Amino acid sequence: MSSLSSPQSEPVPIDSIDLENEKRLLTGIKEFDRVLGGGIVSGSLILIGGDPGIGKSTLMIQALDGLAKQGHKVLYISGEESIKQISIRSKRLSAVSSNVLIVSEINLDSILSMFETTKPDVLVIDSIQTVFSPDLTSAPGSVSQVRESTMRLMLMTKKTGIPSFLVGHVTKEGAIAGPRLLEHMVDTVLYFEGDQNHVFRILRAVKNRFGSTNEIGVFEMKEKGLDEVASPSAAFLSERSVNAPGSVVTASMEGTRPILVELQALASRTSLGTPRRTILGLDYNRVALLVAVMEKKLGMHLMDHDIFMNVVGGIKVDEPAVDMGIVSAVASSFLDKSIRDKTVVLGEVGLTGEVRAIGHIENRVAEVKKMGFTKCFIPESNLNHMTETNGIKLIGIKTVSEAMEVLF
Ligand code: TYD
Ligand code: MG
Repeated sequence: MSSLSSPQSEPVPIDSIDLENEKRLLTGIKEFDRVLGGGIVSGSLILIGGDPGIGKSTLMIQALDGLAKQGHKVLYISGEESIKQISIRSKRLSAVSSNVLIVSEINLDSILSMFETTKPDVLVIDSIQTVFSPDLTSAPGSVSQVRESTMRLMLMTKKTGIPSFLVGHVTKEGAIAGPRLLEHMVDTVLYFEGDQNHVFRILRAVKNRFGSTNEIGVFEMKEKGLDEVASPSAAFLSERSVNAPGSVVTASMEGTRPILVELQALASRTSLGTPRRTILGLDYNRVALLVAVMEKKLGMHLMDHDIFMNVVGGIKVDEPAVDMGIVSAVASSFLDKSIRDKTVVLGEVGLTGEVRAIGHIENRVAEVKKMGFTKCFIPESNLNHMTETNGIKLIGIKTVSEAMEVLF
């Protein structure tokens, strides 16, 4: 077993390893290659997890097509669809090449032998939950089956050097044989996320032995498959109606990339006893905390208001740096005053109402400027350390109450 998992078993000096020869295969889908850390490393096992119907199979077919177009032979093994269904889908995606081989198979032993008989350059198994080892008595998709199959596939990719993708459905709570179980076994774990009612999809690296885990790729689901979104900020702001009370633009870091997003809030008088809080795309508790700070520090009577919040585009934003964005959006709706055009608000808010410094301020401000905004409210402590302002008007804020005065 050990000789399979590590072909190199003699200790060698660390500086004697030739990294120049590490060749990565590119799918040609730039967002995908970047999230992988610059392409596919030979012998690596990559897990792509996500909710059913989010677009994992679509992404895989398009990636394989990209590889096939460069002359690579690729193998797509499906346990979920018949080869007829796969070919219908491929036609729809205009991804048909004779370099793409497809097979419908769930037997692990047959799949393993395909590595050696077919010798593809890249292989995809869609999905790991359908793979079945006849040596075990448990059903496909069970913990023992999924674990055993992944283990043996891992050994096979190391032995043959054929990089392989495993597609894994994120299972509903209760069913445990989902991708989480496999995270520690594979080299790279990517999650494909998004809201099925929206067109945007985000591919996120959560583990990568061959690259950074900070990267994300943004896609748009269209009639003919997934399209790369080269400028996520522009996409997320495309339908913004300026001068609408309750709307504010903030910058969130997604990995190493700042992305501008529009936050929307609606504060309206509660008609029934308890006020409602409906929060989409943001952390519920974080919003509740900020609303409490606003009550106390700004004297805004939000207890008798329902509050609805949303991040436009169906994406999730989860970092304290958008606190000031949340506070301004709620205040804007509550006061029924819009925030001036071409303005972005950034900053973390503490429990005493102080605005705290945030990370990556230079990157964020650069993106704000790039997207044509002229004014940016940032924490005072960040402003004091900024060396360059690049022709954008930066306004430092120390507390939420001070922010309200300058914003409205
Ligand atoms: P799919 O890749 O089958 O999802 P998964 O493998 O993650 O379960 O994609 C499913 C959804 O994507 C399906 O509801 C329809 C939509 N879709 C498009 O909108 N356009 C397309 O070109 C394709 C192939 C799918
Ligand atoms: Mg699928």
